[in-house]
Amino acid sequence: MRCREIGPGFVAQVTDLDLTRPVTALQHAQLNHWLDQYLVLVLPRQALTESQQIDFSALFGPPSERSRPQDQRVEQSPFAHLIGVVTNVRDNGQPIGSLPDGEMWFHHDGCFIERPYRATVLRAVQVTSTGGETLFVDMRQVYESLPAALRAATVGRSAVHVFDYRTLNQQPDPAMDLSRVRHAVHPAVIQHPRSGAHALYVNPLCTVRFIGMPVDESQALLHELTTAILQSSACYRHRWDVDDVVIWDNWASCHARTDFPSGEVRMLRRSIVSGQPLEPALSQ
Ligand SMILES: [Fe+2]
Repeated sequence: MRCREIGPGFVAQVTDLDLTRPVTALQHAQLNHWLDQYLVLVLPRQALTESQQIDFSALFGPPSERSRPQDQRVEQSPFAHLIGVVTNVRDNGQPIGSLPDGEMWFHHDGCFIERPYRATVLRAVQVTSTGGETLFVDMRQVYESLPAALRAATVGRSAVHVFDYRTLNQQPDPAMDLSRVRHAVHPAVIQHPRSGAHALYVNPLCTVRFIGMPVDESQALLHELTTAILQSSACYRHRWDVDDVVIWDNWASCHARTDFPSGEVRMLRRSIVSGQPLEPALSQ
């Protein structure tokens, strides 16, 4: 098994490993170490069945049940509660999976629940000729790069995040009625549960507002932090090939999707590694 860095300080490609076969205890430990050290691991040419993808996810923690009740699924699978399908394929006009179309802004998977997921795994089943790339940003590096005053304004705060993926490229309304949507509050700067690293935990798609702050100030702070995410040099663009498996840490990275042609099929299978409550960074 080999690992080499392919993105700015937080993305590594893992090769010489066949995930259709059982991994050794040493490989298991090494993969966890690399996920904590980097944040994004890319494993090309892994033609996994759904069952094998669940086994791979389980190397990093208990697989999480899917949380998107609005997902539709025509295809029946015994693993449908653990494997979601991200696709624009439709049956009688209805998407058969989730997040069907177009651009999707930066977000952390699971930021709207009390115990945000440790990691997400995607395997590419069918990809478009262009677009549909996944962008990743290292939120440890984003936090490190914030000007001191902005860091001071953010650390120690908490923010509320919502689940409303009906709009994939729009900031949530800061005045929204939270009683009607799935939401959770987390520290704006977290201490990573495994590595201890500090990371910004705010994103443009799901973060509604900071707690205990007037809405206009909250919006201004959110805008500054979003700008830092979008301008970060710690960004990696993944161009998918069929049978790429990518796993990423959802606590210290966020990700986005670029637009893609609606006339072409894009399909990926997603599984999720359960998480835990996030603790605040206690200092800058
Ligand atoms: Fe996502």
